[in-house]
Amino acid sequence: MGEGKGYGKVILFNEHFVVYGVPSIVSAIEKATVARVERGEGSGWVLDDRRPATPGYKEEKQEQQRDSIERVLRAAGVDLSKISLKITLAGDLVAASGIGASAASCVALARALSQEFNLSFSDEQINQIAYEGEKAYHGNPSGVDNTAATYGGLLWFIRGKPIERISIKRPVEIVMGNTGLVANTEAAVAGVRERRQKNSVKYEKIFKEAEELAYIARKALVDYDLRTVGMLMDRNHQLLQAIEVSCKELDFLVELARENGAYGAKMTGGGLGGNMVALTPGKDLQERVARAIIKEGFEALMMRIG
Ligand code: MEV
Repeated sequence: MGEGKGYGKVILFNEHFVVYGVPSIVSAIEKATVARVERGEGSGWVLDDRRPATPGYKEEKQEQQRDSIERVLRAAGVDLSKISLKITLAGDLVAASGIGASAASCVALARALSQEFNLSFSDEQINQIAYEGEKAYHGNPSGVDNTAATYGGLLWFIRGKPIERISIKRPVEIVMGNTGLVANTEAAVAGVRERRQKNSVKYEKIFKEAEELAYIARKALVDYDLRTVGMLMDRNHQLLQAIEVSCKELDFLVELARENGAYGAKMTGGGLGGNMVALTPGKDLQERVARAIIKEGFEALMMRIG
């Protein structure tokens, strides 16, 4: 039996913009998907998906998931014409939109295959294989999710460039709030592409600001100037609203977090549903914001980054 793990992630700055080469800041979270693979007689593969999930998520993603598993197997060079494989997905990462669930499962499966078939893949190879799997969900992914799922930690990510680790003085508390809406990242990314083509002048201005913001945010993180980080998250959310990837449920949770004292809040991931993230330094503030979200009937996840 082979086993492997892939982390969930939270994008702190510049989802969507990152697809076009704008720098982004992403952190892995301490929740992961674990994949197990067991060889058997016959041929082909079967899946036992035991991950906890937002209702409707697994059904909605079933086709993309099948395609993704096929792609990962192909990229890993595993031939199932003479043996069969039972794949089990489990772990404590809730399969939901905006939390890197698809990337986490691709990385976990690539690692499990590497162990089972003695392939000794490096992290770089695992990341590359997971990227192939991500194509089933995203079409043309930037690679930010699979990179966070592979390497963990707090990262500065620019498409096609080597990652840089961002180190901060001490870990900081965040809250993620789940709208419960299952979103289609591919459609969200395609929508941005279309609108960007139609409104090139407006979008160019927004993209420029997103780029500048990333550099300031990186410095603020390194300086541990969390008030500035929070303010920049608020601004990043406005830019994401301007390119029309937020939705009223995300805006509601963002506002709720701010009203309850979060230093800043924004949607995270593909948007149009899925998750938001609030910066909530200190246990007390973190609990207060999480409680407010839960009181409104949403799920909240308390995590630390850095
Ligand atoms: C999804 O988690 C992040 C997006 O920027 C897509 C991508 O980077 O491939 C929306």
